[in-house]
Amino acid sequence: MDRLVITGGTALRGRIRVSGAKNAALPCIAAALLTEETVTLRNLPAVADIRTMLRVLEALGCGVERVADEAGFELSAAISAQAVGDGGLQAPYDLVKTMRASILVLGPLLARFGRASVSLPGGCAIGARPVNMHLEGLERMGAAILIDKGYVEASVPGGRLKAIDHTFDKVSVGATENLLMAATLAEGTTHLRNAAVEPEIGDLARLLQAMGAAIEGIDTGTLVVHGVERLHGCEHAVIADRIEAGTYLCAVAAAGGDVVLDRVRPDDVRALIDLLERTGCVLTERMGQDGPQLRIQRELGQKLRAKDVTTAPHPAFPTDLQAQVMAVLTQASGISVIKETIFENRFQHAMELERLGANLRIDGSTAIIAGPAPLTGCTVMATDLRASAALIIAGLVASGETTVDRIYHLDRGYAGIDRKLQGVGARIERVSGGSV
Ligand code: EPZ
Repeated sequence: MDRLVITGGTALRGRIRVSGAKNAALPCIAAALLTEETVTLRNLPAVADIRTMLRVLEALGCGVERVADEAGFELSAAISAQAVGDGGLQAPYDLVKTMRASILVLGPLLARFGRASVSLPGGCAIGARPVNMHLEGLERMGAAILIDKGYVEASVPGGRLKAIDHTFDKVSVGATENLLMAATLAEGTTHLRNAAVEPEIGDLARLLQAMGAAIEGIDTGTLVVHGVERLHGCEHAVIADRIEAGTYLCAVAAAGGDVVLDRVRPDDVRALIDLLERTGCVLTERMGQDGPQLRIQRELGQKLRAKDVTTAPHPAFPTDLQAQVMAVLTQASGISVIKETIFENRFQHAMELERLGANLRIDGSTAIIAGPAPLTGCTVMATDLRASAALIIAGLVASGETTVDRIYHLDRGYAGIDRKLQGVGARIERVSGGSV
């Protein structure tokens, strides 16, 4: 099993190019099931979750042609779902268990074929993460759903889903995506209220529009979808990854330095920009050749101020940056309070940060962090993707050597994080084999 060995104490300087967004790419790949024509997606990050999603589509009968970029950070995929439907329309447990986002094939399959069999995703390290809202919405659209031997067995009597006026009980990124995709081919006009407004949903909606879907209210909490008979192929470039960008901003905030992020969308990370500015970092936005750029500066020796953070759906502070910002706040002077309101078990990085020397306490869904705490390198173990990123950030600050184990979590969602950090001067090495 690979691990990362980090020697901390070096400020980061240079440029990092942000890759395509994993969480935008995943639903976009699922959306390719909605048409028999080829959908070509560019800027897919070269990470394990994307490979898994493409394999889910292949298991369903899709043809997928992949082309990797030279640096190995991104790929394009031409997906043809023409032959889907000839087989069993089943997304198997072996693939789904490794990635919950596989449930996103359910809406498109039901919308186009009127039936689907998708393994229920199992447990998750960050919370219970049920899919009840996905299933309830599809049932309201006319699907008959039963759970049999661990699979969601769904069919649409009559063959075509029907439009609904639906208000989500709570904001859910995945449920919004699944119902949005289903509604594109449903009969009539669907209203999705209390919909998530994460940028990844806007990206999916724009892909669907390019495929011929009629959608209004994009980037708002009410999506109006006029169902059409069929969708067609198109080309689409996935948006830049705001969580990857935010992770590098946190790395510089914690370790110090001066880094420019290329191909970032500043509005997508506005809540983090505001927070980091309030801690004392300097952030500057400008237009570059490759799209907007974001520069972050924090000189070594410059103190950070403690600040409070509450995670909530977009545009508030994202849960997917909570762990990374906790690593930053271990270095801020004073008491910071982090409230996690999205997932009930997303503080597992806190114990590992404590092993590095962080001074913090967890009380239910609240973390109280006293800083600045001197961190000292040791071996730490990650439990999920963003927790792993937080441990890297702490390792960049810690004196001596930090070994981050179980980095397969990182490889699920960050394209070449070790190589990108090396590019800005971090002393970080990937070591193969021999794990704890
Ligand atoms: C997406 O997960 C992201 N994943 C997550 O990113 C992210 O943390 C999360 O949204 C919140 O922003 C992808 O986009 C692939 P939700 P998702 O449905 O869609 C509850 C990362 O690190 N809920 O918005 O699964 C749920 O338990 C990851 O990249 C229900 O109760 O999240 C949670 O408390 C991890 N019933 C809340 O809603 C449901 O049917 C929000 O979850 C669905 C969700």
